[in-house]
Amino acid sequence: MNDPSTSSGSPRAESSGDRLVTAGRVDDDAQYEAGLRPRTLDEYIGQDRVRDNLEVSIQAARGRKEALDHVLIYGPPGLGKTTLAYVIGNELGVPVRATAGPVIEKAGDLVALLTNLQEHEVLFIDEVHRLAPAIEEVLYPAMEDYEVDIVIGQGPSARSVKVPLQKFTLIGATTRAGLLTSPLRARFGIVHRLDFYTDRDIEEIVRRSARILNVAIDNDATLEIARRSRGTPRIANRLLRRVRDYAQVRADGKINGEVARAAMKLLEVDDHGFDEIDRKLLRTIIDKFSGGPVGVNSIAAAINEEKDAIEDIYEPFLIQAGFLDRTPRGRVATARAYEYFGLSAPGRNSHLW
Ligand code: ADE
Repeated sequence: MNDPSTSSGSPRAESSGDRLVTAGRVDDDAQYEAGLRPRTLDEYIGQDRVRDNLEVSIQAARGRKEALDHVLIYGPPGLGKTTLAYVIGNELGVPVRATAGPVIEKAGDLVALLTNLQEHEVLFIDEVHRLAPAIEEVLYPAMEDYEVDIVIGQGPSARSVKVPLQKFTLIGATTRAGLLTSPLRARFGIVHRLDFYTDRDIEEIVRRSARILNVAIDNDATLEIARRSRGTPRIANRLLRRVRDYAQVRADGKINGEVARAAMKLLEVDDHGFDEIDRKLLRTIIDKFSGGPVGVNSIAAAINEEKDAIEDIYEPFLIQAGFLDRTPRGRVATARAYEYFGLSAPGRNSHLW
């Protein structure tokens, strides 16, 4: 496959959510990530419900010698949607052809990808919610009947020809399941949401990654890194690599709690794993909008960030960690957010006002 937008074998860099990473470092990070990513369901840590369900679906499809039903994986960035797509391909024993919604510009590009698929192979489309409508329509008969309609000729003599496809599996990934059109969503037989990982799972991932990177790490340091990883393996692995750098340069190469805390202080990653933008977002709601409710557009304008980035990347974790509430009237900073900045929350003492 010569199309630069696709690859098989090693995962490409996930396209969204790498806010701590500058463009130049994405490849570097992706390369490291590739080595740390689990390749089988057995190696995959966390997301137990998703893993168990996929195990059943995969084993059943293999047993019947059929293509696995189409799979939709959704959830915040960095939780392993791409990783899981490659794990599924691996467990099925087939190559994964990977592309992304915004990369497919013409219906013909998608038709070419589909007609090149061999029996039971996997086509992975990241950011599947960003497919153009005309391109999405190509997918409907492809997913449902394993065929594509190709129009030959132009004007009155144009005619439509059905081209059969091999039975394949589409794996779609999205950070925003809500943005998927209903005809597309309805064509996925297997739908799974990835949640933030528990601290326990992240600890296990950090231990596994440290083993692969061949670096000594104690329990205290593992907990310190896990606690600051926002329930996100990609962040945990990135922090681990930065802490490893610090241990090598400023200590004896081994990672203990003290080294981990010093490294993350230097990185300005705080106790909750918040970075400057998280703090700015919360502080803006508190200071400029009296704690909310405030619409996401107003927040985006005030902190000079994209609305989509706020909704896809920053908010989900702040909400899950209990610092932000999403109400019908807008976003609200919680009492916890006020406490975090050493402020007292309005309302709590309002009887005194
Ligand atoms: N590395 C990144 N995600 C992982 C996961 N879920 N399990 C194990 N290692 C990982």
